[in-house]
Amino acid sequence: MPLRVALSVVLIVCLGVPAGGVVVGAVESREAGEGSAEVLAQPDGWDEALALPEPEDLDPAPDVIEIRLEARAVDLEITPGVMTTVWTYNGLLPGPFIRATVGDTLIVHFTNALPEPTTIHWHGVRVPNDMDGAPGMTQTPIEPGASFRYEFVLRDAGTYWYHPHHSSSDQVGRGLYGPIVVEDPADAAAFGDDLVLMLSDLSIDTDGQLAAKDNGGAFGSLFGREGKVLLVNGRVRPRLKARAGQAQRWRIINATRARYYSLLPPGGSFVRIGGDNGLAARSEKVTRATVVPGERLDVIFTPLSAPGSVTPLRWRPVDRGWGTVFGRSAETIMEIETANEPPVVARAVPDRLRDIQPIDISGAVRHTLDLTIRSEGSVVEMGINGVPSWAAAPLHARIGETHVWTITNRSAFAHPFHLHGYFFQVLDEQRVLEWKDTVDVPVDSSIRIAIAFDERPGAWMYHCHILDHADAGMMGHLHVE
Ligand code: C2O
Ligand code: CU
Repeated sequence: MPLRVALSVVLIVCLGVPAGGVVVGAVESREAGEGSAEVLAQPDGWDEALALPEPEDLDPAPDVIEIRLEARAVDLEITPGVMTTVWTYNGLLPGPFIRATVGDTLIVHFTNALPEPTTIHWHGVRVPNDMDGAPGMTQTPIEPGASFRYEFVLRDAGTYWYHPHHSSSDQVGRGLYGPIVVEDPADAAAFGDDLVLMLSDLSIDTDGQLAAKDNGGAFGSLFGREGKVLLVNGRVRPRLKARAGQAQRWRIINATRARYYSLLPPGGSFVRIGGDNGLAARSEKVTRATVVPGERLDVIFTPLSAPGSVTPLRWRPVDRGWGTVFGRSAETIMEIETANEPPVVARAVPDRLRDIQPIDISGAVRHTLDLTIRSEGSVVEMGINGVPSWAAAPLHARIGETHVWTITNRSAFAHPFHLHGYFFQVLDEQRVLEWKDTVDVPVDSSIRIAIAFDERPGAWMYHCHILDHADAGMMGHLHVE
């Protein structure tokens, strides 16, 4: 039972960032005795409803994580009282939570116990090319009953995820995804209580069946398939406990096929501290937090609701193009119960978080990528520059080159653009500088990204992360040589 201090918690917050690090608040309490380090604890069992099991580590070495993953169908009670056959890693939805420290080696003994081929893609992780899980490009699909060994070093702190890259929309839509957090010990200490929120949705009907992969036909592909059961860490409306004033770091992962989230802080505040590849250059107070399919968001949530109250966190309709908002209303995805415990004084998040050098784009090779949709009758064909992935010629890059890609949305739907293998920077003065691998390209807009191809030759994919769009052809290949 942690020692708690009932009253008068005084925080002395020391802000300022010396070279090379983040300074966090020094803490002092007038009534704290020995063990006062527990003064700032979250309520007992605060994250129990959201717990994500970690896989067994088969290797005793501290810097090696060796695990088994098996993709298999299991029956789970996702909605109360109803069993649904979902596809999982190790029988869990989401799959096991891989938590590592920067520099660790991850070894995965993967077995496919599904009735069809699959692969695992390590979304955002800077893997060697042959570990990227791109079927037909970096590996042959893993047949039913077959195994594959993935092994690579987790080089970058941040929040990542894993998912199949074969029949992606269908396999992800059946439940195959899992979180990866690579911690930097310095920033773990700086931000404290850390929580992964993996957002997903399943197309479950009233008798517990998952909808067929082609539900909605061509229109389903065009719109992108959103499941009507919204999950956080595989649960319907889990309840998180919080303590007023006590910050929590939320690592949000959007593992849906097509759903955009724009979240308002549920009775409190959000400070965005980063996303795809860990911390951004500086923190930013935000009134809403948007996270598009494939993308990650790292926010500090400080609850400020009255002790004893319950506040909903809602999905709200996000305008991502034609028909995506009309007639739809907000839905609660999680609840935050503010424990009946004395509030603590909220501490400020440091302003500067990380030194990030802007990529030097003088002399960059330029490319133009238009995201296009052609729909005629019942045929929907998506592409890049008007060409679907199966007919597209690859782009080329040389090691040592820097590229600037202008990505323009020429369609009536927004598209989250994802590049495998390399982080990029979005060239936009309005944005806080950060490293990304997935970025939204709203309707009628154009973005520019800078990429330095500094290592790891091979064939890499880029595609829309509305997985129905990728499957319909909005995908291309890049050869780095
Ligand atoms: Cu998460 Cu190619 O995707
Ligand atoms: Cu798209």
